[in-house]
Amino acid sequence: MFAYNSGAMSFFNRFSFLTKTRTVRLVVPPEFNRNSPNVVSLMTPEDSGVWLLDRMRQQVGFENYSDTKLLDFGCGVRFSQALINTNFSIGQYVGVDVCRPMIKFLQKNVRNNRFSYHFVDAYHPNYNPGGSPLTHESRLPLTQTDFNLVCLFSVITHQSPEDSAIIFSLLRRHVRSDGHLFFTCFLDDSISEYEDRSADQNRGRCFYNSGFLTELVQTTGWRLIAKAPPNGPLIGDSFVFAAQ
Ligand SMILES: C[S@@+](CC[C@H](N)C(=O)[O-])C[C@H]1O[C@@H](n2cnc3c(N)ncnc32)[C@H](O)[C@@H]1O
Repeated sequence: MFAYNSGAMSFFNRFSFLTKTRTVRLVVPPEFNRNSPNVVSLMTPEDSGVWLLDRMRQQVGFENYSDTKLLDFGCGVRFSQALINTNFSIGQYVGVDVCRPMIKFLQKNVRNNRFSYHFVDAYHPNYNPGGSPLTHESRLPLTQTDFNLVCLFSVITHQSPEDSAIIFSLLRRHVRSDGHLFFTCFLDDSISEYEDRSADQNRGRCFYNSGFLTELVQTTGWRLIAKAPPNGPLIGDSFVFAAQ
């Protein structure tokens, strides 16, 4: 009996590379870094990523990520570095971004079946000038509709109100009825609605009036749950909405 088991074990050990997912350290070329020089000079992407994931968990209010299916819109690379390089336990991570070479890099280099990445060819004057403008007919390249949580870190900071509304509405289709939305933004209640404060007017730094933004999100299938002030330089103003 013992001899049979150890034979079976060594057989499975020899072929374990077929059944286990590889967790190779993710090393990202500098051109795919999307984070501010301020944050990059202070800590590693792994440290800032884990800090932000934990901050989001506390604000949304759940125990841990072990069973969480997370959709990261405008994903960049930081959460992938944080999750993979710290062996962070997460149910599923799906990243979506308009940067085609970065998404190709992640698709090729992240070999773990809990992770997947999708390119979306949406126009953005800075991040994807060759893309197609978002419209109410636009769809994400995803069939999955049971995400627990969708997040946008430093993404609404680069969107017009028209694109933000389409994005929030598109994302609602992919989240469970008891799911949540978390995003960061720049708020300034001295403006009436919205202002792009970037020198080139390319949505480099978009500010919103908080009431205007809340109302905009609530017209797209979400209900306000909580709001938190910034904690610079790591995180701007942030909101939690529940699916409705
Ligand atoms: C400042 S970076 C933040 C990256 C990441 N969320 C983080 O915090 O590390 C903004 C990201 O949003 C992506 N992005 C901008 N507009 C987008 C859109 N309409 N759809 C999907 N991704 C978008 C950019 O390509 C970029 O990777």
